[in-house]
Amino acid sequence: MSRAAAQPTPLSLYFHIPFCDTVCFYCGCNKVVTKRREKAAPYLERVHKEIAMQAALFDDNRVVEQLHWGGGTPTFISHDEMRELMRVTREHFQLCDDDKGEYSIEIDPREVSEKTIALLRELGFNRMSFGVQDIDPIVQKAVNRIQPNDVTLAAVNSARKHGFKSLSVDLIYGLPFQSVDRFDKTLDWVIEEAAPDRLSVFNYAHLPEMFKPQRRINAEDLPPPEEKLNILHHAINKLTDAGYVYIGMDHFAKPNDELAVAQREGSLYRNFQGYSTHADCDLIAIGNTSIGKVGNTYSQNVKTLEEYYDLVDADKLPIYRGIELNANDVLRREVITQLICHFGLDMSKIDKQFNIKFKDYFKTELEELATMQNDGLVKIQDRRIEVQPAGHLLIRNVCMVFDDHLRQSKEQRFSKVI
Ligand SMILES: C[S@@+](CC[C@H](N)C(=O)[O-])C[C@H]1O[C@@H](n2cnc3c(N)ncnc32)[C@H](O)[C@@H]1O
Ligand code: SF4
Repeated sequence: MSRAAAQPTPLSLYFHIPFCDTVCFYCGCNKVVTKRREKAAPYLERVHKEIAMQAALFDDNRVVEQLHWGGGTPTFISHDEMRELMRVTREHFQLCDDDKGEYSIEIDPREVSEKTIALLRELGFNRMSFGVQDIDPIVQKAVNRIQPNDVTLAAVNSARKHGFKSLSVDLIYGLPFQSVDRFDKTLDWVIEEAAPDRLSVFNYAHLPEMFKPQRRINAEDLPPPEEKLNILHHAINKLTDAGYVYIGMDHFAKPNDELAVAQREGSLYRNFQGYSTHADCDLIAIGNTSIGKVGNTYSQNVKTLEEYYDLVDADKLPIYRGIELNANDVLRREVITQLICHFGLDMSKIDKQFNIKFKDYFKTELEELATMQNDGLVKIQDRRIEVQPAGHLLIRNVCMVFDDHLRQSKEQRFSKVI
């Protein structure tokens, strides 16, 4: 880790706040569901300590260009706790004070007041994403997330009023009782009423063995695969007709949003936090379960609060696993990043950059892509691979061809598109 100190690249900080007041049955996030707000204090005490431990490994002059509070529900913590978390962060890291950083927070509209939004802006946040999922009362009931539209709208409007730059809304397709017609109403409402700068339309993967709350969702109530695909197609058509640009991997943005601009200009980047206009920052992840990336290494913190508290109390970094990429991984990461961000790839550039012969190195992968070419998903030219519009939707699958860890792993069901 200390090797990182020599690198001048900017930093990205991720803070995981795992608590939620109630559970949404579809949820696949790492969370602790509790009504007891006092549980946040002992957690944050360790987070403050981890901030100091992590900061000691990096040069003081590295500017934090990206900062993200995710969860769980970050606004579960009190206003004083929010102030203190940002104060401690500022004490140990160099934050941007000119509003040029990408400082974002995940908001559950049911868990936020105008006062909280004003405070978050004051603390330096300039982007928000709002969990909505679906506005249909029947769907909301089936997933245990009752969220009236006026509650969502109040949060969105006050974020605008307080000068948040880029607002995003999260939707999920594939939830119980969803159909093209029903989801159409959610899309109408989002486009006309919330009108966010960005939208994520996530695919619901039903894995009840893995995510306990999902056991409370009745599998028979889920839309069948064909209907799910129809919902996705409809969502893409409707959003693009409404002027949104498909960025890729479930994400849409208005044409003047900086993500869409970056995509047009070829400067889009993607990391754990999703698409970004900030190139390769080192990512320091703080809090239980969070995943960091420094240079060519990735590391993940322990999962449970107990383990997290024990390690931090023993003055140890709460990391339980890590990996250092080898040359093959770095090459494949670059290929996947190019495809995911630009829907295309210059093979001759990769040859020069990595001193390889792409067509020999990726012979098997190109054979697989040839099948996709027959289906009209990609076009393989002499020097370039171009993902065709029909393949944009399936960009995850195109990228999977270059993931040899996945190839070796039998657990491919995670990445199922439908
Ligand atoms: C970590 S949650 C945090 C947001 C906040 N707690 C809320 O619910 O509004 C971020 C987003 O992940 C998405 N998400 C959670 N579980 C999912 C699942 N099983 N499949 C697809 N998307 C999921 C939801 O769209 C949610 O808004
Ligand atoms: S979707 Fe958000 S509020 Fe619901 S359980 Fe997951 S993290 Fe908590």
